[in-house]
Amino acid sequence: ATQPLIAPSILSADFAHLADEADAVAGADWLHVDVMDAHFVPNLTLGLPVVQSLLNATDIPLDCHLMIEDPGRWAPPYAEAGAHNVTFHAEATDDPIAVARDIRAAGAKAGLSVKPGTPIDPYLEILKEFDTLLVMSVEPGFGGQSFIPEVLEKARAVRKLVDSGELRLLVEIDGGINTDTVEAAAEAGVDCFVAGSAVYGAFDPAAAVRALRAQAAG
Ligand code: DX5
Ligand code: ZN
Repeated sequence: ATQPLIAPSILSADFAHLADEADAVAGADWLHVDVMDAHFVPNLTLGLPVVQSLLNATDIPLDCHLMIEDPGRWAPPYAEAGAHNVTFHAEATDDPIAVARDIRAAGAKAGLSVKPGTPIDPYLEILKEFDTLLVMSVEPGFGGQSFIPEVLEKARAVRKLVDSGELRLLVEIDGGINTDTVEAAAEAGVDCFVAGSAVYGAFDPAAAVRALRAQAAG
């Protein structure tokens, strides 16, 4: 893997002060924004209007993680708005290639996410349509859950294809990343580390970002 990227998740931030919370992680590579629709996952967070406001409030590239049904309908507007990455779930659509192409055509990087129980093999063929693979290391829906180490097998498999030149994309991990788990993920070949509670639960969130990055770099 190259220089590790750290993406604090604002799911663990104070939603009434999102601009300040973005400033609190100055130096982060991406700001991870969890969009949930109370259908794909049993939780409801925020949507396009909040993302549009955040885009005006911070220079940190937004990494939008859409945990929603019907991404073909809802994902492209996030790209049009100016999100850096727009990631949707493999489990949420029958036509992930079409969604990825629409996201890219609208000017963003396209990401595919898989839940912990979803195998990666059926998707290896289509990963060339994507810029990131987001491996979920908790069940999507909530911050503060425990890391599921078994998912690292998927990161390793895709890392191998990237290293051999068969694929070109970033491997991202999301869920339960903290000072106890980040090294195992880095060893599995993860490029980008999402961290919610480990960053926003810290006394100094910017220092927590730096510490995770240093640990991930080994
Ligand atoms: C969970 C979200 C994660 C969440 C991670 O569904 O996708 O991005 O914010 O939170 P932590 O780092 O606390 O597990
Ligand atoms: Zn997420």
